[in-house]
Amino acid sequence: MIVTIDGPAGAGKSTVARQLADKLGFDFLDTGAMYRCVALLGSRQQIDWADQPALAAIAAALPLEFDGARVLLEGEDVSAEIRTPEVTALIHYAADNTQVREAMVALQRKLAAEDDVVTEGRDQGTVAFPHAECKIFLSASAEERAKRRVEQMRQAGKEVSVEQVLEQQNLRDQQDEAREVGGLKAADDALVVITDGMRAFEVVEHLERLVRIRM
Ligand code: DC
Repeated sequence: MIVTIDGPAGAGKSTVARQLADKLGFDFLDTGAMYRCVALLGSRQQIDWADQPALAAIAAALPLEFDGARVLLEGEDVSAEIRTPEVTALIHYAADNTQVREAMVALQRKLAAEDDVVTEGRDQGTVAFPHAECKIFLSASAEERAKRRVEQMRQAGKEVSVEQVLEQQNLRDQQDEAREVGGLKAADDALVVITDGMRAFEVVEHLERLVRIRM
């Protein structure tokens, strides 16, 4: 069975999707991590970002492995590095590149072919798995998402203002929604869940109920 969870940055998708996968005993596929790895390798190899085929070549032979919550590139744990602001600022080169997207979707389908999965991203219900048995579009208001991010950063020892986060978040929302291929939008048959005012565990319980109805 395939469960897709799409939605904007900061909707709490990753936490919730991972916990949902655990509860169901499904594999978890973090597709954002894939685009992050392509951007990281492009940066390490100092490619010319205007050279789209060069980035596509990196994506086509991505030496990526998931080991639980760890993301490995040729065996090296890059889980923290792919989430730095430096890498985040480069992702759009990977996400806007049609050939990179094709390679990532092919990889996602390959990884999901063997087992039950919860897969999380922007285009999982629309492009990667249009026939998924259960599609969820997870969102929250821009303010709620920004506040959650500020709290996350505070716990990690970094102080930022809601306004600062909102500015970056709006930019990412615009980039994600404007993308011609694989842009952020709910599939017609997706269940839209707005998580304002809900705690993470409540969202997980709600999603688990939705999935079990379809099992
Ligand atoms: O979920 P995340 O923040 O790790 O995703 C990082 C970026 O990757 C996000 O800004 C958009 C892109 N992305 C995408 O284009 N398609 C996906 N399926 C997942 C992520």
